[in-house]
Amino acid sequence: MALCADPACPDAAPPGYYSLHMRRYLGCKTRLLAKIAEVVAAQCPEARRIIDIFAGTGVVGHLFNTPPREIVVNDFLASNAMILQAWFCAVPEDRGEIEEAIGALCGVEASGPNYYGENYGGRFFTEDVARRIGALRDAIDAWNLRPVVKAAAVASVLYAADAAAVTCGHFDAFRPIDDERSVRRFVVRLPHIPYRANGNNLVFCRDGNELAGEIEGDLLYVDPPYNRRQYGTLYHVLENIALNTKPALAGKTRKMPPDARPRSEYCTGRAAAAMRDLVAGCRVRHLLVSYNNMNSGVGNSNALIPLEALEAMLSLRGTVTTYRIPFPSFTARRGLLDGHEEYLLYCRVTRPPR
Ligand SMILES: C[S@@+](CC[C@H](N)C(=O)[O-])C[C@H]1O[C@@H](n2cnc3c(N)ncnc32)[C@H](O)[C@@H]1O
Repeated sequence: MALCADPACPDAAPPGYYSLHMRRYLGCKTRLLAKIAEVVAAQCPEARRIIDIFAGTGVVGHLFNTPPREIVVNDFLASNAMILQAWFCAVPEDRGEIEEAIGALCGVEASGPNYYGENYGGRFFTEDVARRIGALRDAIDAWNLRPVVKAAAVASVLYAADAAAVTCGHFDAFRPIDDERSVRRFVVRLPHIPYRANGNNLVFCRDGNELAGEIEGDLLYVDPPYNRRQYGTLYHVLENIALNTKPALAGKTRKMPPDARPRSEYCTGRAAAAMRDLVAGCRVRHLLVSYNNMNSGVGNSNALIPLEALEAMLSLRGTVTTYRIPFPSFTARRGLLDGHEEYLLYCRVTRPPR
């Protein structure tokens, strides 16, 4: 079956659009797409319903999003789920309304101070950009759009905010503000949605383990967090913009309280137990797991599940093939890491779920 994007060069959106790949996101698999496409073509080319259960940016699901395939994408962050809803669920009949809503957003300006300006101005964004984000988000809520149109409008604001944020790719820290650069890069654009490919896809914002035990499919792609860095903390600003519920924020990086941020078992000492549970309970014929051997020398960034443990869990469900992909990786502390590898573990499932 054909692919939706060129895995070697997936970024092909026309000028004035955001492509799905135009985000800075830790663990994003853009650079592994060619290998993932190769493994799927070799092992399960006939897979029709593909489930990307920890979808993040959604680039892996997007790669396979061509009819007659059905793509199921899931992520427990509301910001990701909204972006995914726009890219995987909008159909040709939605296009006019989406373009109209985002066109109207371009004319929305901030009329004065607001929650986003007060909390994020001078931190992740300039005061002007932060206020504009607030004005756009409130406008979207006030317009009472249909869910898929609202998702596309919010997605457009999230992409513009990510591009304008003065960060190194996540929101657990910020760099000193360079006004001109930050202002220049806040641009509301249309999402480059593959409208004609959509129609049978499903999007969820749920716990991946629970969903994997309920939903049936041909191929389950599993790309959980590998280390102790919680995505709910790394992307708290985008999550707050997506939800727009305006909770009280605290601390230098203006986070919502810890219990308001999704927490993943995969970022704790229970990571191996969570993976064992998911593998044992999933209802598919093919499993493909991404992981790596990161040992950065910094506790928080080290991978939590050893390769041998992953292989042992998967072999309880069927025959396992391991692909080890040498992968140049850079950390601020230790520079280029020697021996860094990305893993793809494929399992042809022969035994039923528990
Ligand atoms: C390594 S990233 C996935 C990257 C993705 N494959 C891509 O290419 O962009 C892991 C994702 O899992 C999500 N996540 C973590 N724990 C989860 C859980 N229990 N249920 C659902 N999603 C979860 C995080 O929000 C994050 O987006």
